[in-house]
Amino acid sequence: VYKRQRLSPLTKGVNKQLLPIYDKPLIFYPLSILMLSKIRDILLIVNPGQIKNFKSLLGDGKRFGIKIQYKIQKKPRGLADAFILGKSFIKKDNVALILGDNFFYGQNLSKMLLNCSKLNEGAKVILHKVPKPELFGVAKINNLKKITSIKEKPKKFISDFAITGLYFFDNKVVKYAKQLKPSKRGELEITDLLKKYLSTSKLKAEQLGRGGAWLDTGSIEDFYKTSLFVSAIENRQGFKIACIEEIAYLNKWIGKKEVLKAIKFYGNCEYSNYLRKLIS
Ligand code: G1P
Repeated sequence: VYKRQRLSPLTKGVNKQLLPIYDKPLIFYPLSILMLSKIRDILLIVNPGQIKNFKSLLGDGKRFGIKIQYKIQKKPRGLADAFILGKSFIKKDNVALILGDNFFYGQNLSKMLLNCSKLNEGAKVILHKVPKPELFGVAKINNLKKITSIKEKPKKFISDFAITGLYFFDNKVVKYAKQLKPSKRGELEITDLLKKYLSTSKLKAEQLGRGGAWLDTGSIEDFYKTSLFVSAIENRQGFKIACIEEIAYLNKWIGKKEVLKAIKFYGNCEYSNYLRKLIS
Protein backbone atom coordinates (compact mmCIF):
# COMPACT_ATOMS: atom_id res chain seq x y z
CA VAL A 1 0.00 0.00 0.00
CA TYR A 2 1.18 3.50 -0.90
CA LYS A 3 3.56 5.18 1.51
CA ARG A 4 4.93 8.70 1.69
CA GLN A 5 8.11 9.41 -0.28
CA ARG A 6 10.68 9.35 2.47
CA LEU A 7 13.24 7.48 0.38
CA SER A 8 13.05 9.70 -2.65
CA PRO A 9 14.94 9.94 -5.03
CA LEU A 10 15.72 6.23 -4.58
CA THR A 11 12.08 5.46 -5.12
CA LYS A 12 11.43 7.73 -8.10
CA GLY A 13 12.04 5.00 -10.66
CA VAL A 14 11.40 1.88 -8.59
CA ASN A 15 9.01 0.95 -5.84
CA LYS A 16 10.65 0.89 -2.43
CA GLN A 17 9.63 -2.75 -1.99
CA LEU A 18 11.85 -3.70 -4.92
CA LEU A 19 14.95 -2.05 -3.49
CA PRO A 20 17.46 -4.32 -1.77
CA ILE A 21 17.64 -5.14 1.88
CA TYR A 22 21.08 -6.71 1.83
CA ASP A 23 20.81 -9.66 -0.57
CA LYS A 24 17.17 -9.64 -1.64
CA PRO A 25 14.37 -7.24 -2.52
CA LEU A 26 12.55 -5.74 0.45
CA ILE A 27 9.24 -7.36 -0.60
CA PHE A 28 10.69 -10.83 0.21
CA TYR A 29 10.69 -9.99 3.92
CA PRO A 30 7.00 -9.18 4.47
CA LEU A 31 6.08 -11.94 2.02
CA SER A 32 8.06 -14.43 4.09
CA ILE A 33 6.14 -13.36 7.19
CA LEU A 34 2.83 -14.22 5.54
CA MET A 35 4.27 -17.54 4.37
CA LEU A 36 5.48 -18.35 7.87
CA SER A 37 1.90 -17.64 9.00
CA LYS A 38 0.90 -20.34 6.47
CA ILE A 39 -0.99 -17.83 4.37
CA ARG A 40 -0.86 -18.80 0.70
CA ASP A 41 -3.45 -16.59 -0.96
CA ILE A 42 -2.00 -13.14 -1.30
CA LEU A 43 -3.19 -9.92 -2.85
CA LEU A 44 -0.36 -7.52 -3.57
CA ILE A 45 -1.57 -3.93 -3.64
CA VAL A 46 0.75 -1.70 -5.62
CA ASN A 47 0.71 1.81 -6.98
CA PRO A 48 0.14 2.51 -10.66
CA GLY A 49 2.83 1.62 -13.17
CA GLN A 50 4.62 -0.90 -10.95
CA ILE A 51 2.76 -4.16 -11.49
CA LYS A 52 5.08 -5.22 -14.31
CA ASN A 53 8.14 -4.98 -12.07
CA PHE A 54 6.56 -6.96 -9.27
CA LYS A 55 5.33 -9.58 -11.70
CA SER A 56 8.74 -10.07 -13.25
CA LEU A 57 10.14 -10.77 -9.80
CA LEU A 58 7.32 -12.73 -8.16
CA GLY A 59 5.06 -13.85 -11.00
CA ASP A 60 1.94 -15.58 -9.75
CA GLY A 61 3.82 -16.99 -6.77
CA LYS A 62 3.82 -20.58 -8.03
CA ARG A 63 7.61 -20.71 -7.88
CA PHE A 64 7.35 -20.57 -4.13
CA GLY A 65 4.08 -22.37 -3.58
CA ILE A 66 1.67 -19.50 -3.13
CA LYS A 67 -0.88 -17.65 -5.21
CA ILE A 68 -0.32 -13.95 -5.78
CA GLN A 69 -2.88 -11.64 -7.29
CA TYR A 70 -2.29 -7.97 -7.96
CA LYS A 71 -4.35 -4.87 -7.43
CA ILE A 72 -3.56 -1.26 -8.22
CA GLN A 73 -4.21 1.43 -5.66
CA LYS A 74 -4.78 4.44 -7.89
CA LYS A 75 -4.58 7.06 -5.17
CA PRO A 76 -2.87 7.06 -1.77
CA ARG A 77 -6.09 6.63 0.17
CA GLY A 78 -4.47 5.07 3.22
CA LEU A 79 -3.74 1.63 4.59
CA ALA A 80 -7.34 0.79 5.47
CA ASP A 81 -8.22 1.21 1.78
CA ALA A 82 -6.65 -2.24 1.33
CA PHE A 83 -9.85 -3.82 2.63
CA ILE A 84 -12.03 -1.88 0.23
CA LEU A 85 -9.75 -2.66 -2.72
CA GLY A 86 -9.49 -6.24 -1.55
CA LYS A 87 -13.17 -6.88 -0.92
CA SER A 88 -13.71 -9.39 -3.71
CA PHE A 89 -10.40 -11.06 -2.89
CA ILE A 90 -11.25 -11.44 0.81
CA LYS A 91 -14.80 -12.68 0.22
CA LYS A 92 -16.04 -14.27 3.47
CA ASP A 93 -12.61 -15.05 4.87
CA ASN A 94 -10.57 -13.64 7.69
CA VAL A 95 -7.58 -11.67 6.50
CA ALA A 96 -4.11 -10.47 7.43
CA LEU A 97 -2.45 -7.29 6.24
CA ILE A 98 1.29 -6.70 6.21
CA LEU A 99 2.87 -3.45 5.10
CA GLY A 100 5.36 -3.87 2.29
CA ASP A 101 8.20 -2.27 4.23
CA ASN A 102 7.96 -4.02 7.57
CA PHE A 103 10.79 -6.26 8.74
CA PHE A 104 10.32 -8.83 11.51
CA TYR A 105 12.82 -11.27 12.92
CA GLY A 106 12.89 -13.43 15.99
CA GLN A 107 13.28 -16.79 17.60
CA ASN A 108 9.64 -17.41 18.44
CA LEU A 109 8.26 -15.55 15.49
CA SER A 110 6.91 -18.54 13.53
CA LYS A 111 5.04 -19.84 16.55
CA MET A 112 3.52 -16.45 17.25
CA LEU A 113 2.51 -16.02 13.61
CA LEU A 114 0.79 -19.39 13.46
CA ASN A 115 -1.06 -18.51 16.59
CA CYS A 116 -2.20 -15.19 15.10
CA SER A 117 -3.40 -16.68 11.84
CA LYS A 118 -5.71 -18.97 13.81
CA LEU A 119 -7.68 -15.93 14.94
CA ASN A 120 -11.42 -16.60 14.74
CA GLU A 121 -12.98 -13.38 15.80
CA GLY A 122 -11.90 -9.78 16.30
CA ALA A 123 -8.53 -8.33 15.40
CA LYS A 124 -4.98 -8.87 16.52
CA VAL A 125 -1.96 -6.61 16.37
CA ILE A 126 1.70 -7.18 17.13
CA LEU A 127 3.26 -4.68 19.51
CA HIS A 128 6.91 -3.84 19.89
CA LYS A 129 8.68 -1.40 22.20
CA VAL A 130 10.41 1.39 20.34
CA PRO A 131 12.50 4.39 21.34
CA LYS A 132 10.48 6.83 19.21
CA PRO A 133 6.79 5.91 19.50
CA GLU A 134 5.73 9.26 18.06
CA LEU A 135 6.61 7.91 14.60
CA PHE A 136 4.06 5.09 14.71
CA GLY A 137 0.60 3.99 15.67
CA VAL A 138 0.85 3.42 19.41
CA ALA A 139 -1.05 1.23 21.89
CA LYS A 140 -1.42 1.78 25.57
CA ILE A 141 -1.77 -1.48 27.49
CA ASN A 142 -2.77 -2.26 31.07
CA ASN A 143 -1.09 -4.71 33.42
CA LEU A 144 -3.12 -7.55 31.95
CA LYS A 145 -1.53 -6.76 28.60
CA LYS A 146 -4.86 -5.58 27.27
CA ILE A 147 -5.00 -2.60 24.93
CA THR A 148 -6.80 0.31 26.55
CA SER A 149 -6.26 2.98 23.92
CA ILE A 150 -4.54 3.57 20.61
CA LYS A 151 -3.35 6.64 18.81
CA GLU A 152 -1.73 7.34 15.45
CA LYS A 153 1.59 9.17 15.83
CA PRO A 154 0.87 10.67 19.28
CA LYS A 155 2.61 14.00 19.85
CA LYS A 156 2.32 13.55 23.59
CA PHE A 157 3.70 10.33 25.08
CA ILE A 158 1.09 7.67 25.85
CA SER A 159 3.12 4.47 25.58
CA ASP A 160 6.23 3.17 23.89
CA PHE A 161 4.51 0.18 22.31
CA ALA A 162 4.35 0.69 18.56
CA ILE A 163 1.68 -1.11 16.60
CA THR A 164 3.71 -2.89 13.94
CA GLY A 165 2.58 -3.19 10.35
CA LEU A 166 1.15 -6.71 10.63
CA TYR A 167 -2.54 -7.07 11.38
CA PHE A 168 -4.97 -9.97 11.60
CA PHE A 169 -8.70 -9.36 11.16
CA ASP A 170 -11.98 -11.19 11.04
CA ASN A 171 -14.27 -10.54 8.08
CA LYS A 172 -15.93 -7.54 9.72
CA VAL A 173 -12.93 -5.51 8.65
CA VAL A 174 -14.38 -5.01 5.17
CA LYS A 175 -17.58 -3.52 6.57
CA TYR A 176 -15.65 -1.37 9.08
CA ALA A 177 -13.26 -0.07 6.41
CA LYS A 178 -16.19 1.19 4.36
CA GLN A 179 -17.45 3.17 7.35
CA LEU A 180 -14.18 5.08 7.80
CA LYS A 181 -13.78 8.77 7.03
CA PRO A 182 -10.42 10.17 5.84
CA SER A 183 -8.21 11.59 8.59
CA LYS A 184 -6.64 15.05 8.64
CA ARG A 185 -3.90 13.80 6.35
CA GLY A 186 -6.61 12.64 3.95
CA GLU A 187 -6.16 8.90 4.49
CA LEU A 188 -8.23 6.01 5.75
CA GLU A 189 -6.19 5.22 8.84
CA ILE A 190 -5.47 1.71 9.99
CA THR A 191 -5.60 3.01 13.56
CA ASP A 192 -9.21 4.17 13.05
CA LEU A 193 -10.04 0.70 11.84
CA LEU A 194 -8.43 -0.83 14.92
CA LYS A 195 -10.44 1.57 17.07
CA LYS A 196 -13.63 -0.05 15.78
CA TYR A 197 -12.42 -3.35 17.22
CA LEU A 198 -11.18 -1.70 20.40
CA SER A 199 -14.60 -0.13 21.06
CA THR A 200 -16.21 -3.59 21.04
CA SER A 201 -13.39 -5.13 23.12
CA LYS A 202 -12.32 -7.25 20.19
CA LEU A 203 -8.78 -5.96 19.77
CA LYS A 204 -6.10 -8.33 20.98
CA ALA A 205 -2.37 -7.91 21.10
CA GLU A 206 0.74 -10.03 20.93
CA GLN A 207 4.17 -8.77 21.81
CA LEU A 208 7.24 -9.47 19.80
CA GLY A 209 9.25 -9.39 23.00
CA ARG A 210 12.87 -8.55 23.66
CA GLY A 211 14.22 -11.42 21.60
CA GLY A 212 12.45 -10.20 18.50
CA ALA A 213 13.37 -7.44 16.13
CA TRP A 214 11.03 -5.17 14.26
CA LEU A 215 12.95 -2.80 12.10
CA ASP A 216 11.59 0.19 10.37
CA THR A 217 12.80 0.69 6.85
CA GLY A 218 11.24 4.15 6.70
CA SER A 219 14.21 6.49 6.60
CA ILE A 220 17.39 6.07 4.56
CA GLU A 221 19.34 5.51 7.74
CA ASP A 222 17.00 2.76 8.97
CA PHE A 223 16.85 1.25 5.52
CA TYR A 224 20.60 0.64 5.57
CA LYS A 225 20.59 -0.45 9.18
CA THR A 226 18.16 -3.20 8.25
CA SER A 227 20.59 -4.42 5.58
CA LEU A 228 23.37 -4.44 8.14
CA PHE A 229 21.20 -6.45 10.50
CA VAL A 230 20.39 -9.05 7.83
CA SER A 231 23.99 -9.31 6.73
CA ALA A 232 25.21 -9.75 10.31
CA ILE A 233 22.72 -12.55 11.05
CA GLU A 234 23.07 -14.34 7.72
CA ASN A 235 26.84 -14.32 7.69
CA ARG A 236 27.06 -15.50 11.28
CA GLN A 237 24.50 -18.26 11.07
CA GLY A 238 24.76 -19.36 7.47
CA PHE A 239 20.99 -19.18 7.17
CA LYS A 240 19.12 -16.73 5.05
CA ILE A 241 16.34 -14.57 6.42
CA ALA A 242 13.28 -14.48 4.15
CA CYS A 243 14.40 -16.94 1.51
CA ILE A 244 10.90 -17.51 0.18
CA GLU A 245 11.73 -20.71 -1.68
CA GLU A 246 13.27 -22.18 1.46
CA ILE A 247 10.16 -21.41 3.48
CA ALA A 248 7.96 -22.95 0.78
CA TYR A 249 10.20 -26.01 0.62
CA LEU A 250 10.20 -26.51 4.39
CA ASN A 251 6.42 -26.01 4.42
CA LYS A 252 6.27 -28.75 1.79
CA TRP A 253 4.47 -26.43 -0.61
CA ILE A 254 7.10 -27.08 -3.25
CA GLY A 255 9.58 -29.88 -3.93
CA LYS A 256 13.08 -30.13 -5.36
CA LYS A 257 11.80 -29.66 -8.87
CA GLU A 258 10.45 -26.19 -8.11
CA VAL A 259 13.60 -25.23 -6.23
CA LEU A 260 15.64 -26.19 -9.29
CA LYS A 261 13.33 -24.04 -11.38
CA ALA A 262 13.94 -21.15 -9.00
CA ILE A 263 17.69 -21.62 -9.35
CA LYS A 264 17.31 -21.41 -13.12
CA PHE A 265 15.15 -18.32 -12.75
CA TYR A 266 17.65 -16.48 -10.52
CA GLY A 267 20.69 -17.56 -12.50
CA ASN A 268 24.19 -18.00 -11.17
CA CYS A 269 24.27 -16.11 -7.89
CA GLU A 270 24.81 -16.51 -4.22
CA TYR A 271 21.07 -16.88 -3.61
CA SER A 272 20.97 -19.81 -6.06
CA ASN A 273 23.96 -21.40 -4.34
CA TYR A 274 22.01 -21.25 -1.11
CA LEU A 275 19.02 -22.92 -2.75
CA ARG A 276 21.27 -25.61 -4.20
CA LYS A 277 22.58 -26.36 -0.72
CA LEU A 278 19.03 -26.53 0.59
CA ILE A 279 18.07 -29.43 -1.67
CA SER A 280 21.37 -31.27 -1.67
C1 G1P B 1 1.81 3.10 9.36
C2 G1P B 1 0.63 3.07 10.32
C3 G1P B 1 1.12 3.03 11.76
C4 G1P B 1 2.07 1.86 11.97
C5 G1P B 1 3.21 1.90 10.93
C6 G1P B 1 4.05 0.63 11.00
O1 G1P B 1 2.46 4.32 9.50
O2 G1P B 1 -0.20 4.20 10.07
O3 G1P B 1 0.02 2.90 12.62
O4 G1P B 1 2.60 1.89 13.27
O5 G1P B 1 2.70 2.01 9.60
O6 G1P B 1 5.09 0.64 10.05
P1 G1P B 1 3.22 5.02 8.26
O7 G1P B 1 4.47 4.24 8.06
O8 G1P B 1 2.29 4.93 7.10
O9 G1P B 1 3.48 6.42 8.69
